[in-house]
Amino acid sequence: MSSDIASPGILTKARTALTIAGGLYALAVGLIAVPYFQRHTLYCNAIRIPWFADFDAPEKYGLALNKTYNFKIQTVDNETLGAWFILAESIYQTLPSHHTIPKPHIAHALQTRPTILFFHGNAATRAFKARVQHYSAFSSRLNANVLAIDYRGFAESTGTPSEEGLVRDARAAYEWLISSGAKGEDIIIMGHSLGTGVSARLAAQLSKEELAYRGVVLMSPFSSIAEVVKTYSVLGVVPLIKPLTMIPYAFNFISWALIHKFDTLSVVPQIKGKVLIAHAENDWDIPYTHSQVLFNAFLEPLLPNVDIPSDPVSTTKEDWSAFTAQISARKNRREAIVRTTHLPNFGVIEEFVDRGGESLVNGEPVRGAEYWAAGRPGGGGGAPWEREVIFVKMLEGGHDYVGVQEGLQDVIGRKFGLLPYSMSRFPAAPPPPPTPSVFVPPAPESEVGGSDVSDAGAWSPLPSASERGEWTGAVTKVVDEM
Ligand SMILES: *[C@@H]1O[C@H](CO)[C@@H](O)[C@H](O)[C@H]1NC(C)=O
Ligand SMILES: *[C@@H]1O[C@H](CO)[C@@H](O)[C@H](O)[C@H]1NC(C)=O
Repeated sequence: MSSDIASPGILTKARTALTIAGGLYALAVGLIAVPYFQRHTLYCNAIRIPWFADFDAPEKYGLALNKTYNFKIQTVDNETLGAWFILAESIYQTLPSHHTIPKPHIAHALQTRPTILFFHGNAATRAFKARVQHYSAFSSRLNANVLAIDYRGFAESTGTPSEEGLVRDARAAYEWLISSGAKGEDIIIMGHSLGTGVSARLAAQLSKEELAYRGVVLMSPFSSIAEVVKTYSVLGVVPLIKPLTMIPYAFNFISWALIHKFDTLSVVPQIKGKVLIAHAENDWDIPYTHSQVLFNAFLEPLLPNVDIPSDPVSTTKEDWSAFTAQISARKNRREAIVRTTHLPNFGVIEEFVDRGGESLVNGEPVRGAEYWAAGRPGGGGGAPWEREVIFVKMLEGGHDYVGVQEGLQDVIGRKFGLLPYSMSRFPAAPPPPPTPSVFVPPAPESEVGGSDVSDAGAWSPLPSASERGEWTGAVTKVVDEM
């Protein structure tokens, strides 16, 4: 072989091959600009794995007998979406037998247990193996109901996918839950991959209309499709678009040609309530830096600005020291606001509470933390909302199995009040008290030794004191909220 390399014939062939490869690359990149190809590349909805799925038989894909109701949801623009409603374990286990069909028990399930509204990623259907593992874990380990839909153009749903269309599908699923008896505060919006773009937009829409939801979970999210295109590598090794960034305006062209932008970063300011972002370091499809960018975007309004010297040449020494002082003030503020928890062999949790984003007080924009520190100037009227943001950076989980990690499930369960026993898990539950022969009124909460049942059911935008203390064993830094 090695002697062949020197032969001119081989070199010519290699050059021809490279030219063809380069041409194909240019063609592929050019095709992305064509709406038809862009749609198929992004949504991959023609890939209907499992092929010829029998959605009427969820048992075939691993769910318990008659635990899942297969049905259709109608959207406002007359698309029909395939959907599965999976009963929470505690409801399912009280049914007399597996011959009991789930449908008549849905209203009770929605009123009794919280529901995870699940939006899957691109390609394949709601019956895809990795997805069923999520429903299975959420319904059994977290005892939540799960509603999983297939967007327009996916599985047996009608229509053609588009960004606005998918958001409408998500809204239709939310409305179905409400009209079937769920309270908004009991609905947890959860998206995976492409589904995080859908989830973020649904949450922003509901926030704007002041409709309730318990919170949003974004698993393996991206900051925007343009960024994904920029950072995407085939199998985590071959950067697809990177070569283009060397050509001026080539990337701008791609961003411009993107019809389906799913710009999650731009809707961040509109999302209210609790937001949990989860990403694995070994995600080779979407790098976890996307989640970091999102988390920082949520944090930004709480950090002081830094004025970058406009002209470095004429900058005085005083200007520079003012600049570095601003940088360290920003760093200190970040450390004071963000609580970091290292969980050995699992990952790192960063979290903070944003008490209000930015609001106008007497026409002046006031940042959330300042607003509260100043004793809510302008009276309580128009007090801005509160938001808790949690970023779980995990060691394992790849792109598709983040939500299947039990460590993450427990964080979700604890943060969204799903775990009925959450408070007795860390540390171990105290033994039950001996049954008294005379009735003794229960001790006030402070004397029950940190056991905390108060947030097991209801949602509150702020973690309770005992919830905050729950992880103290591994906490490296506990800072009082500002
Ligand atoms: C949806 O279908 C109904 C009944 O077929 C029809 O009355 C309505 O105009 C349709 N709406 C849209 C937006 O196409
Ligand atoms: C579900 O219940 C129906 C009604 O009793 C029954 O006909 C059906 O066989 C059950 N399905 C399974 C998978 O057991």
